[in-house]
Amino acid sequence: MLEEFRPEVVSFHFGLPSADLLAHVRSWGAKILSSATTVDEARWLEARGVDAIVAQGLEAGGHRGMFLSDDLSTQVGTFALLPQIVTAVGVPVIAAGAIANARGVTAVMALGAAGAQIGTAYLLCPEATTSAVHRAALKSDAARLTAITNVFTGRPARGIVNRLIREIGPMSGAAPEFPLATTAVAALRARAEHLGSGDFSPLWAGQNSSGCKEVPAAGLTRELAAAITAA
Ligand SMILES: Cc1cc2nc3c(=O)[nH]c(=O)nc-3n(C[C@H](O)[C@H](O)[C@H](O)COP(=O)(O)O)c2cc1C
Repeated sequence: MLEEFRPEVVSFHFGLPSADLLAHVRSWGAKILSSATTVDEARWLEARGVDAIVAQGLEAGGHRGMFLSDDLSTQVGTFALLPQIVTAVGVPVIAAGAIANARGVTAVMALGAAGAQIGTAYLLCPEATTSAVHRAALKSDAARLTAITNVFTGRPARGIVNRLIREIGPMSGAAPEFPLATTAVAALRARAEHLGSGDFSPLWAGQNSSGCKEVPAAGLTRELAAAITAA
């Protein structure tokens, strides 16, 4: 699929793929990005020639991009991580985690970011494939309590706390290895969703869901980018 579209920017998660694949992606002139969750990971990525690094703070929704260590105590918030990575590397750094509005974008730019990567704020946009139970959870008070859990996929990821996280998580030694945990909970999840319940679904969200709006993604992007164009 990559070959067919030849995107100008390819963003990897969980480190980088093999040197051969990386060279192939570079051969059509694509810029290479990947996420770092620690200063060590940022240095590792820079040493392998990435064009920019996403500094993913602990607040971020979805999977942690961590790849040099599986020790969650190495993971720190955006405000702590971003300036340290900016100091440690020479390539542009893109901030991710808890950025919910234009003021958040301004704040990370002040800390040295070259850009902002935002996930959670887009989850209620009509273009997003966010499920009905996920949308309902994001709009409820439950969205204020998130946790990093491995029970849905086998890898640590941040989502809204629900019954499965409460009863067997948030981190469980019994969770099958990534991505096999997804299959392990699939039947339970499907049945619960059929009944209108998100008790067993991964309700990915970051710690700051206050920017979620049911508006088209283009409008939301223009609103968030206003901080950059005004600077
Ligand atoms: C539902 C969801 C899915 C995500 N999937 C990916 C992914 O496939 N690859 C990736 O690099 N990051 C992924 N992320 C993480 C985002 O790229 C980004 O780091 C994060 O959303 C930023 O923090 P925020 O959620 O507080 O805005 C995902 C985030 C969410 C909320």
